[in-house]
Amino acid sequence: MDQFVIEGGLALKGRVETSGAKNSALPVLAACLLTAEPVVLDRIPRVKDIRTMQALLKHMGATVVEEGDNRVRVQAARIDRPEAPYEVVKTMRASSLVLGPLVGRFGAAQVSMPGGCAIGARPINLHTAGLEQLGARISQSHGNIEASAVGGLRGAEVHFDRITVTGTEDIIMAAVLAQGETVIENAAREPEVVDLSALLTKMGARIEGAGTSTIRVQGVERLGGAEHAIIPDRIEAGTFVIAAAITRGDVLVAGCEPEHLQALLVKLRQAGVEITEPERGVLRVRGGANLRSIDATTEEHPGFATDLQAQYMALMTQAEGITIVSERIFENRFMHVPELIRMGASIRIEGRQAIVAGPRRLSGAHVMASDLRASASLVLAALVASGETIVDRVYHMDRGYERIEEKLAGLGARIRRAK
Ligand code: EPU
Repeated sequence: MDQFVIEGGLALKGRVETSGAKNSALPVLAACLLTAEPVVLDRIPRVKDIRTMQALLKHMGATVVEEGDNRVRVQAARIDRPEAPYEVVKTMRASSLVLGPLVGRFGAAQVSMPGGCAIGARPINLHTAGLEQLGARISQSHGNIEASAVGGLRGAEVHFDRITVTGTEDIIMAAVLAQGETVIENAAREPEVVDLSALLTKMGARIEGAGTSTIRVQGVERLGGAEHAIIPDRIEAGTFVIAAAITRGDVLVAGCEPEHLQALLVKLRQAGVEITEPERGVLRVRGGANLRSIDATTEEHPGFATDLQAQYMALMTQAEGITIVSERIFENRFMHVPELIRMGASIRIEGRQAIVAGPRRLSGAHVMASDLRASASLVLAALVASGETIVDRVYHMDRGYERIEEKLAGLGARIRRAK
């Protein structure tokens, strides 16, 4: 299993380009199932989860052609097997994103039920309840969820009990070909929902309100092909911003969308990090000598992203004072804490809060990644720690960060991959 070997203590300097957003590319690839015509996508990040989604589309019968480094052409002219098997779902829960488009276009879908995962139980009951509102029949057997809608789906009101990102995306994709109007209340407002809606609109869908908590979809008879470039990955960009801050470096994070990062940038400025936007889509981040502790609570967008919580906590180990980091989205997203403690951090967990006392000098250690964002926080801690850190199980990181060691090395970090 691959490891990262990192020698800490260097301030990062230079310019790094942001890749396309993994969490946008995943629903957008699933949306290709909604038309028989080709869909051409740019800025598709080359990360493991995307390869998994592409393999899933191929398994179902779609053609997927990589036309360039980050360009993919997908055509779902024929779908022989409208199903996501367990082997795929167990490695990537976002496979449930095919449920909505399959039942919407073909009236049938089978998706293996995801089990629990490192960060929480993560059920998909809200996806299936929404589909039932649209008239799908849902049944469960042998660990699979089957959805069918023999006469097609019908528009309806879907009110989510709690905000769900992929659930909102799944229901939008189911509704675009349904008969009549669907109104989604308490919808997720994430930029990835907006990006998916932008692609669907280019394909001929009629969607209003994406980016707000009420989304209206007027069903249409068919969708056509389109070309679309994925939005920048706000979580990757945020991770580089924190990397610059934690190493007290001077870094340009280019090709990003600062608007999508506001909650993080506000916290970092309060903490004493200097952040400017010298040109559109480029953030200059300079880490100051004295970092102040600033509390953070994860929320749905536009609140502080849970996908940046672990990285932010690594930074707060270097801040003066006590920081309270509260996790409100997932019930078990503190798996990085024991590993940060092994590196010398002072963190206590009380329920859904982590109490970080800083600053602490971190020292390199052998640590283990438990999920995608936890692994990012360990790499960040390693960049500021004295001596060598070995991060095990970097396959977690490979799921969502494109060429991460190359990008960090380009900023002067001493990082290498070992087999
Ligand atoms: N939830 C339910 N029932 C459902 C769906 C969700 O109870 O049917 C709960 C979840 O267990 C969780 C909360 O609702 O406690 C919010 O989950 P949500 O559905 O919004 O998460 P998701 O759509 O499964 C996406 C991202 C995650 C990100 C979350 C929250 C993708 C592919 N994944 O997951 O990204 O953390 O939204 O912003 O978009 C990551 O990239 O590392 C990652 C985990």
